[in-house]
Amino acid sequence: MEQQFLLGASTAAHQVEGNNVHSDFWALEQMEGSDYSEPSLDAVDQYHRYEEDIRLLAQAGLNAYRFSIEWARIEPEKGSYQEEEILHYEKVLQCCQKYGVEPVVTMHHFSSPKWLIQEGGWESEKTPEYFAAYCAHVVKRLGHYMHYVCTINEANMGLQIAAVAREMMIRMGIRPQVGVKFALPEAIQQKKAREAAVFGLPAGEPVNTFLSMRTARGDELVMEAHCAAREAMREICPELKIGATFSLYDLQPQADEASEAEAQKIWEADFAHYLPYLEQDDFIGVQNYSRKLVGPEGSLPVPEGAETTQMGYEFYPEGIGHVLRRVAVETGKPVLVTENGIGTADDTRRVEFIRRALAGVEECRREGIPVLGYLHWSLLDNFEWQEGYSKTFGLIAVDRATQTRIPKPSLAYLGGFAGEFC
Ligand code: BGC
Repeated sequence: MEQQFLLGASTAAHQVEGNNVHSDFWALEQMEGSDYSEPSLDAVDQYHRYEEDIRLLAQAGLNAYRFSIEWARIEPEKGSYQEEEILHYEKVLQCCQKYGVEPVVTMHHFSSPKWLIQEGGWESEKTPEYFAAYCAHVVKRLGHYMHYVCTINEANMGLQIAAVAREMMIRMGIRPQVGVKFALPEAIQQKKAREAAVFGLPAGEPVNTFLSMRTARGDELVMEAHCAAREAMREICPELKIGATFSLYDLQPQADEASEAEAQKIWEADFAHYLPYLEQDDFIGVQNYSRKLVGPEGSLPVPEGAETTQMGYEFYPEGIGHVLRRVAVETGKPVLVTENGIGTADDTRRVEFIRRALAGVEECRREGIPVLGYLHWSLLDNFEWQEGYSKTFGLIAVDRATQTRIPKPSLAYLGGFAGEFC
């Protein structure tokens, strides 16, 4: 039987649930001199309001919801699994069933339990085993509600962050000393010491969250965690469709050999070098927000006069179609759009973004590319990490004083494609 196209929207636990008190980011948000513009606090209280959110999604005609299960809730202390939190997510999954919505479950979306960071975080050799054990526990209890699981959201993000940070430091005149080590200014050193203290680590000890600058070994560990989790979950539920997701730009080199070689180098770092770890995956989760023009020295600024989004990215909805095609061709695997969207206060631009993005997805499907679905980021305006609540990616606005949901026209617009796509 042909599988139904998944048309829906995505969120992540830390960004919508609220009060993720046992997580690393909660701790960092509360820290004096935090990089976060504001703390997440109640977020949009999805922990208590999930039914309304899933109902609004379903009523708009959408049939899939990607959300994440929060590791820090399930295992707030190492090895101590919370049955009441399993029961909470069971209710969320049952609610999806009730409204005829296919859940696409992410096991890790950036935030981690605080204890994991105390143990070395995403640079520790023990993390793959810890992560696999948590995933196995969840799937043992709840796997029968699921068909699609994303192990790790944007598995390549730490490496992308490291590349950007390195570029910025060099621009600020901070030169690498030995290998990748930088002589950090006093203020940064002090902030790093405060961060270490938040986790009870001695000053000088690195804090390796999922969004810290990743080392080459850390990058391998993320992939080992993905593979270990995939195998552990498969052993329990062999029929689950499992993949990881990747943050991918539509790389567009200038028309000369050096620019093309540079774009290929970026693609290699962003995606191609992960291929050996993905051979046993059932699908690739593709996340795209814009394109990147590439010159011989690296990425180029957004072209003069181009429309930009709240995040400063170029408005470029064609990116998703291009990236989907490239990933499908290079991997030979089914692809699932796990995120694609725009931070904007003008919902008419979101509608236009969706129209053009879906035209690209449709073209891929017409070419015979196995596209499993399109999950828009995001269902709700939510906590945009260090940017706080200032960036609005949602199909639904939220008045955070009352937590009232206010669907935007783009929600109905996306739902209107159900007839054509599903
Ligand atoms: C992340 C989301 C984030 C979105 C918009 C993605 O990189 O997975 O958590 O909110 O981009 O910036």
